[in-house]
Amino acid sequence: MSRLIAGVAGNPVAHSLSPLIHGEWIAATGIDGSYERFLVSLDGFAAFVASRRGTDLRGVNITIPFKEQALALADDADATALAAGAANVLLFSTDGRVTARNTDGIGLLAAFADQAPAFSPKAGPIAVIGAGGAAKGAVAALVAAGAPQVRIVNRTLARAEAIAAAFPGRARAFSWEEAEAALVGVGAVINATSRGLNGVDDLDLPLEAAPLTAVAMDMVYKPLRTGFLKIAKAQGRTVVDGLSMLIGQARPSFEAFYGRPAPNGSKVRDICLKALGEAP
Ligand code: ATR
Repeated sequence: MSRLIAGVAGNPVAHSLSPLIHGEWIAATGIDGSYERFLVSLDGFAAFVASRRGTDLRGVNITIPFKEQALALADDADATALAAGAANVLLFSTDGRVTARNTDGIGLLAAFADQAPAFSPKAGPIAVIGAGGAAKGAVAALVAAGAPQVRIVNRTLARAEAIAAAFPGRARAFSWEEAEAALVGVGAVINATSRGLNGVDDLDLPLEAAPLTAVAMDMVYKPLRTGFLKIAKAQGRTVVDGLSMLIGQARPSFEAFYGRPAPNGSKVRDICLKALGEAP
């Protein structure tokens, strides 16, 4: 069998930890494969996909800012990608067809299962902060996992309302001023905004309005312990970090690209922590 080639496409892409994750799993499984970075120009994503159809590229992870476009360009999409309105995986078949998937929701739920095993999405309402692509994927995954109500809190209320409208009876939009009311009685609070990234503009939420049993999760993983997670931890809460979600979404991607499950174990997390300059 020929060498299995996959990679990650984005702009920027130099910061991506995906090559480290997949590279470690390729080495651990002994697969004859490679995982590359594809820096695609901002107006060049359609041409990139077209030029790779029917080549020996098996698939790519998609990162900013191409996730919505990836879904639009694919010939087929799984239900998760359709519900999220975005794809983080494109699979290329030898006959030239392109299939979109979204494994971010699997990654989110895997992160909770790993770091907050007592949490159940079915147990009560969940607050998602933000209303961009990352938030929409999270809402879709939580609704699919049986969350009775997802409360979307966003600075721009109209964006939260647009997502809520896609999940009638299961999601509700809240303005930033209503954040306190949105947090009452929730089982988890998930930061799906970019706030806190690189230690800048930490999320300022009235987190104390959430029950102490509410888990705090941050999709931002740089730094690993964001200001939001530090506050949550100081309040005695269980916290779930974005690196766990990143590795959780990579796992089904790996299996789709290389036809083998990713190995278990924490080595890949340690490798990522080192790359992020964090202590293991
Ligand atoms: P992504 O696709 O990665 O989710 P996005 O679509 O740019 O990125 O969404 C970013 C999210 O972070 C949005 O919810 C945004 O709020 P708005 O919809 O009001 O723009 C939120 N966000 C970013 N910076 C913010 C800030 N300084 N204060 C409040 N919300 C912020």
